[in-house]
Amino acid sequence: MQSSTAVAHANLAFVKYWGKRDSTLNIPLNNSISMNLSAAQTITTVTFDEDQTQDRVLVEGSEASAKFAERACRHVDRIRKLSGVDSRVLIETRNTFPASTGIASSASGFAALTLATTAALGLKLSERDLSILARQGSGSASRSIPGGFVEWHAGQANEDSYAVQLAPADQWEVVDVAVLVTAEAKQVSSSDGHLLALQSPFWEARTQMLPARLDRVRQAILERDFVTFGREIEAEAMAMHAIMLTSAHEAERAWHSGIYYWTPDTLTLLMAVQRWRDAGMQVYFTLDAGPTVHLMCPADQEQVVSDAVKHLAQAQAVDPGWTLLVSKPAPGAHIIENPA
Ligand code: DP6
Repeated sequence: MQSSTAVAHANLAFVKYWGKRDSTLNIPLNNSISMNLSAAQTITTVTFDEDQTQDRVLVEGSEASAKFAERACRHVDRIRKLSGVDSRVLIETRNTFPASTGIASSASGFAALTLATTAALGLKLSERDLSILARQGSGSASRSIPGGFVEWHAGQANEDSYAVQLAPADQWEVVDVAVLVTAEAKQVSSSDGHLLALQSPFWEARTQMLPARLDRVRQAILERDFVTFGREIEAEAMAMHAIMLTSAHEAERAWHSGIYYWTPDTLTLLMAVQRWRDAGMQVYFTLDAGPTVHLMCPADQEQVVSDAVKHLAQAQAVDPGWTLLVSKPAPGAHIIENPA
């Protein structure tokens, strides 16, 4: 029996991955930049047992859905092939945060699965090779392998599309106050959404904007320039959502003019952020493919921002039931020797 446990953090993209050059290998059309989130972890134990007759996947101790199990086992297969081991696998995984709410559980999930599987099989891979492998499970998982602030180099092919550290977690004391506005799963998965990105008439404009934006965000992180950083990431989130909102497609039952990942509560928060800044608060938002609003602020402003969100919730006619998840920059994927 060979077993290993790995922890990986979800990551929050400041410059987004939206649109793929190769959707089998998850090779993106552009570089992206992110930060690992301390409060959003996946902990995964992988065990290869010669006596086991079939692959099994447990999420929080219960049998995983067929779809999830199939995707996870397909990923283990990629790695199993590299090692020459043929035993069946038991995958046991849990998250410290709710999935499908705009915090990418696939990122931490596939990063932890990649590292635990390679370790259990005795493969010693470089950070770069782990990132390449994790990317094939889910693109954003490539960015959860290195620690702290990370850039994923889009590349052109399997070997040159991987993420590297821009700066360690202690580079900058910024905080993400994530406001989870609903626990409902989103209508269009990010994997499906990526394929629709090129439908948008604004795709070209976003592509042209990106090299300069990547430079500014990278530089702002290195120089700890919060204002430049904040303006860029907020504008970038809206640029990605402009693509999403204009990706017309035939949906299941009828034609849709775009993908709407927001709920009314999302918009309530986005508008509040503009007012809060007018009143002098240091806060900017970003959003992924979901309704969760991520509020970025300097670490010493965390209480002010959390209190503002709580007051806003209290001011609603009905308690909106928002959940706050506060994260600092976090390390990369790592093995834990004695899991509880
Ligand atoms: C909006 O990594 O979930 O969060 O590669 O198909 O698994 P797949 O997609 P995924 O896409 C994440 C998209 C995003 C932006 C980002 O994280 O950069």
